[in-house]
Amino acid sequence: MGSRMLGIAAAVPSKVVTNKDFEARLDTSDEWIVTRTGIRERRIAPDGVQLSDLAAEAGRRAMERAGVAPDEIDALIVATATPETLYPSTACWTQPKLGLRHVPCFDLGAGCSGFLYAYTVADGLVKAGTAKKVLVIGAEMLSRAVNWEDRGTCVLFGDGAGAAVVAASDGERGLLASTWGADGSLGDLLMQPAGGTRMQASRETVEKNLHAVHMAGNEVYRYAVKAMQQATLEVLEKAGVAASDISLFVPHQANQRIISATADRAGIPMEKVMLTIRKYGNTSAASIPTALDDALAEGRLKEGDLVLCAAFGAGFTWGAALFRW
Ligand code: ACO
Repeated sequence: MGSRMLGIAAAVPSKVVTNKDFEARLDTSDEWIVTRTGIRERRIAPDGVQLSDLAAEAGRRAMERAGVAPDEIDALIVATATPETLYPSTACWTQPKLGLRHVPCFDLGAGCSGFLYAYTVADGLVKAGTAKKVLVIGAEMLSRAVNWEDRGTCVLFGDGAGAAVVAASDGERGLLASTWGADGSLGDLLMQPAGGTRMQASRETVEKNLHAVHMAGNEVYRYAVKAMQQATLEVLEKAGVAASDISLFVPHQANQRIISATADRAGIPMEKVMLTIRKYGNTSAASIPTALDDALAEGRLKEGDLVLCAAFGAGFTWGAALFRW
């Protein structure tokens, strides 16, 4: 038995922040941001909206599209690097908003690889018979986790959530092959230094902006290209599928240059690559499900298609998965 995604859906805030908006307050330019990253604008959640609100909106839509009622969900996993609180989990905050039964709810922290990691866990739960239907949500509010004075990071990220119901597959369709991995020895290249137990919140941590994303951009870039390429090739090989058979490549949207390099190495032409970074920026664990939702809306996901996903994120973590849609 295998698993598949039902009812992909997303929820992004309506407020748009453009590169021009940054030009007005930072030493940056639309030209720099577009050339280095491919980002033109991103969505930012307004004050008062919480991460569990976005997660619940995406989850509700996913259940509606899947034709699945809240009481049919056996577990909720929220993949996030920007939890609403350190505890309880964002999944626990989201559960009552969705009207789920008292099913297990937990967060999964794998940075931008979070959605693929959460899918892999849900796949295992379904295959083991522990759960029939798992709601998997990737949700982020990076706007509340960046230093808005740091031009090297704040222009890169956006807010959003995407969700899918993971259920037993009906035969040919669903997950064909996947891979996931991590190298924790490189964790300090991309991290939020303070706020956990390593470094408690203090006046100093606030003054030094240690509660925000700290990233060695160049090194992360190099490793991301290598890991995404390797994971992608590994999954194609595991499934015995040629790159030319892929209908759509839906990579994590961190940087258009990383995406192009990965697609190029795998031998997938750019017209088969889903690009949403232009309008959402990097939404970390939300980027793959929101890109899948956009692909659905654009009619780019058809039954029987081979759909390849790949991600890389803080940890470092990475993963790739190949689906028959
Ligand atoms: N506007 C103008 N100039 C800028 C900006 C900006 N917004 N940001 C940085 N610069 C400057 C730097 O200060 C530097 O100037 P200097 O040469 O005078 O020192 C110059 O531009 C070059 O900076 P680099 O960091 O070397 O630029 P690079 O080409 O590496 O691009 C980027 C930076 C876009 C961040 C790139 O490194 C990248 O995409 N890295 C990977 C990000 C990623 O994949 N993250 C993983 C997921 S995130 C997660 O898991 C939460």
